[in-house]
This record gives sequence, C-alpha cells and structure tokens, in this order.
Amino acid sequence: MILKNQHDVTVDALAVMERTTDPRLRAIMVSLIRHLHAFVRDVRLTEAEFRAATAIVNEIGKQTSDTHNEAVLMAGSLGVSSLVCLLNNGEDGNTETSQSLLGPFWRLNSPKVENGGSIVRSDTPGDPLQVTGHVVDRAGKPIAGAEVDVWHASPVGFYENQDPGQADMNLRGKFTTDAEGRFWFRTVKMVGYPIPTDGVVGRLLAAQQRHPYRPAHLHTLIVKPGYKVLISQVYDPTDPHIDTDVQFGVTKALVGDFVRHDGRYSLDHTYVMEPGDAVLPKPPIK
Ligand SMILES: [Fe+2]
Repeated sequence: MILKNQHDVTVDALAVMERTTDPRLRAIMVSLIRHLHAFVRDVRLTEAEFRAATAIVNEIGKQTSDTHNEAVLMAGSLGVSSLVCLLNNGEDGNTETSQSLLGPFWRLNSPKVENGGSIVRSDTPGDPLQVTGHVVDRAGKPIAGAEVDVWHASPVGFYENQDPGQADMNLRGKFTTDAEGRFWFRTVKMVGYPIPTDGVVGRLLAAQQRHPYRPAHLHTLIVKPGYKVLISQVYDPTDPHIDTDVQFGVTKALVGDFVRHDGRYSLDHTYVMEPGDAVLPKPPIK
C-alpha cells in the first residue's frame, strides 16, 4: 500500500501480519502490531525517543552473556515474568499457585542429600534454619518420591557461584520426598539481595527511585512424572522488601511461615503440584 497518512501504516502492517502462515505466530504478530502502534500513538513517541529506545534494546543484547541475562532482568523488572507465570499456572490464572520465577541461578546436578541433612558446605554465617517441605497434589494428597532441588543465597547475599568464598554447591541440595510427601533439611537463614544494577535495568531503577532488592527467599524445583515441574520460591515476611520486590515475584501463596525459636528458625511450607508434563527448564547457568 502507498500510504496517505499515519493511520494507513497500521492498516497496511496489520494486513501483512494477517498473511503469516502459522496461526499462533499470526495471532501474536497481529496483536503485537495493534498494541505497539497504539502505544506509539498513546505516548506520541518522538523521533529522539524512538532512536533511544532502539539503542536500549541493542544494549540489552550486548549486556547478555553466558552468566548474565539482561533481558530476563528487564522482563522481571517490568512485571512481565511474573504475569506470564501467574497467567499460565493456578488453573490458567484463576487460583493460587505455588509456581514462581526460576531466577538466573538454578544449577543442574546439585548434590543429593538425605532428609535431615545440611546443605551448608563451607563456613557460612547466619542463624540456623530448619526447613520442612510438604509436597502435595491439588487435592492435598502427599506426593512421595518427588525430587526436590533447593538453593538459596548466603546471608551475605550471594549464591555460591557468585562468591569465591563459598564452596562449590554451597547452599544447594537435592532431596527426595518420603511416603508422606515430606522433605526436610538444615541450612542458615537467607537474606535479601540486590539484582545487578550496572546495566540498562539499573538505569531504569535509578530513574524511578526504585531499590534493586529481592526479599529473602528459598528456591525449589520439584520433579515428579505426571506433574508439571514445580518452580517455586518461598519468601521471608519479615524482610524489609517483602512488599516491594524489584522483580514482582511475591504472591500470598509464597509467603513463608518462618518461626523464630531460641537463636534459630524453622520454616514449614506446603508445595502444591499441578498436573502436567515433567519437563525441566534449561539451566540458566552451568
Ligand atoms: Fe534468588
């Protein structure tokens, strides 16, 4: 089409998208053009802003490496990662879900640990924490023989792979649930940590006067054939950033019951698995 005005470009681009053969790709591209063009009109994007925007997209790509993913960090910081998670779980976003974000620090092949064992593998400061997990299906029936990967940052705020002071696989372990669907282990109480702020995401946070912290959390990834792999995080409600997570990951179902005893803590949490395929995600790091 030879365009007469700004309205024509949307009509023409939509007509081109409508010719996409694959039906799902067609639906996505048609909707994308509708929303993208409406967005440009809504904010009356200037030419300078448009050039800055394309430069930012390019920069996100350049800042991404084998050990860092700026695009995932940006998606999280805009609430998109959390939206995709909540929309695709909990019966298509209609009920609570134990599912949460995978984050960038899950590693494959963490060492097996017997129930009751410790995942502290090198001198790590912090208050002792006893964790007990209950893995159940949607009817509340215990799931025995599920493999449970757990990992968390040290009380200094680093995962072991970020910190030469920690032993390999410190604060990581793999458990198997018993006949009652339980797993339990000893560790130290985790603290919150800042996401990396030396890239595009850091500039956005600074421009919005946002802090870069995620509240203290325990990651789990639970596998049992016949169920969708459960990727979860449990958060500490006493963390000062519990209701301002920079990645928008905290939901009511994920607020943990951390109980303080004399100089130590306990956490008891129930993980609900949903039916589906036990397909592992690709590990973000080695
Ligand atoms: Fe994390």
